[in-house]
Amino acid sequence: MSLFETYISSKKEYFESKWFEILRIPSISAIEEYKPEILRAAGWFHNRFREIGLQSELIETVGYPLVYAETPAVANAPVVLVYGHYDVQPPDPLNLWNSPPFEPAIRNGNVYARGATDDKGQLLTHVFAVESLIKSGEKLPFQIKFIVEGEEEYGGKGIDHFLHSNEGKKKLACDCVLVSDTSMFAPKQPTITYGLRGIIAFELFLTGPNRDLHSGVFGGSVFNPAIALTKILSQFINEKGIVQIPGFYDDVISLTERERTQFANLDFDDNSFFEKIGLSQGFGETGFSTNERRWTRPTFDINGLTSGYQGEGSKTIIPSKASAKFTCRLVPNQNPNTIANAVQEFIALRIPPGITWELVVQHGAPGMRLDLETSKFVPPMSKALEKTFSCSPVFTREGGSIPIVAEFHNVLDAEVLLVGWGQDDDALHSPNEKFSLASFHAGILASARFFAELAKQ
Ligand code: BES
Ligand code: MN
Ligand code: MN
Repeated sequence: MSLFETYISSKKEYFESKWFEILRIPSISAIEEYKPEILRAAGWFHNRFREIGLQSELIETVGYPLVYAETPAVANAPVVLVYGHYDVQPPDPLNLWNSPPFEPAIRNGNVYARGATDDKGQLLTHVFAVESLIKSGEKLPFQIKFIVEGEEEYGGKGIDHFLHSNEGKKKLACDCVLVSDTSMFAPKQPTITYGLRGIIAFELFLTGPNRDLHSGVFGGSVFNPAIALTKILSQFINEKGIVQIPGFYDDVISLTERERTQFANLDFDDNSFFEKIGLSQGFGETGFSTNERRWTRPTFDINGLTSGYQGEGSKTIIPSKASAKFTCRLVPNQNPNTIANAVQEFIALRIPPGITWELVVQHGAPGMRLDLETSKFVPPMSKALEKTFSCSPVFTREGGSIPIVAEFHNVLDAEVLLVGWGQDDDALHSPNEKFSLASFHAGILASARFFAELAKQ
């Protein structure tokens, strides 16, 4: 065992206690009231970086602050930028948690807390890896940088603005962006995720009469906004799961035969996949497998619907208003702005008489895909993963979005290397989010080994 490996195995308790410190800070970016906690979480990372001897600064943005840190620059050597986010999703519904969301609890080898895996636990694996390499006297003949944001979970623009500024381009310049904010394909199966979907998020507001009306007095003589809303939304997707927005698929790149075979060869069982989420079967575009649908095809989904009376009993009204939140997941090469315009047009053509409307585009980001054939960082990462998990990695894409990653590739011309330590039952964004202690410690070791591999080259 090398010095850093011995160091890592001796510091497990210390890593856990530090991790629990940040889990106790409820840095919920979606809720304004939590701003002080957001700032406290940013400050925590800033201190953490300084404690391990890195140069670190807090960077103000149009939104919440970024935390930046770096090891000394090394001429003519690669630069690796580690990206992660210190914000978390709201914990609701609170009554479904078995222990309080911001008081980490260990049960069956798992740590339960909001942000346990997404993304505080996963991000910290790299912080502890770098700390261990430094403290055990390992040479780092290349530069490591960190950029940690606090707006990932609500699609905030702070990091995007910074990345496009001259200062940002200089500060974040790198050859590889390393991100642990995805999942492993199966327990103990190391995974390199070479593609993510993008996203475009909308809210549609429809207004009919200037107040809720008696449905007996007015029913049949006015257009009901709730009916208008459901009629419009129901046309976005047909019974075969195909999105009906004109031009929606124009820029979608077909899967290669090689990719299809690669996905088909993964050990995946549809029945047990759907059984775990309480479904007797799945649904999606005909001609594609479940994983192709989830990872490589664009979608339309309704995320929330609101209109009329929701209380106990019945209330005979025609509501004045109806609204819906909906999103499209996008695939690489689809442009979020083009899709936003097409959605606007699609709705405009379907607004019934007497209804006024407003469509708000909330946020958008393109998808990304790493070219595995030309990647310089996949080989050393594969070695580190093999050594840590005694098994070579599988290559998958995923359906979730990390909005800034495609921009890292576009603006910095860097490879984006997504290597997650999470499991698909970690309950991200749900009650009882967890991250296993074993994954957390394996992540630290694998990250340190990746850096050690790079040092050899
Ligand atoms: N870590 C997730 C993204 C993710 C989850 C990727 C699982 C792959 C597998 C990230 O924190 C997230 O939740 N992203 C949001 C982005 C959105 C709010 C703009 C998403 O995908 O919904
Ligand atoms: Mn995340
Ligand atoms: Mn998330």
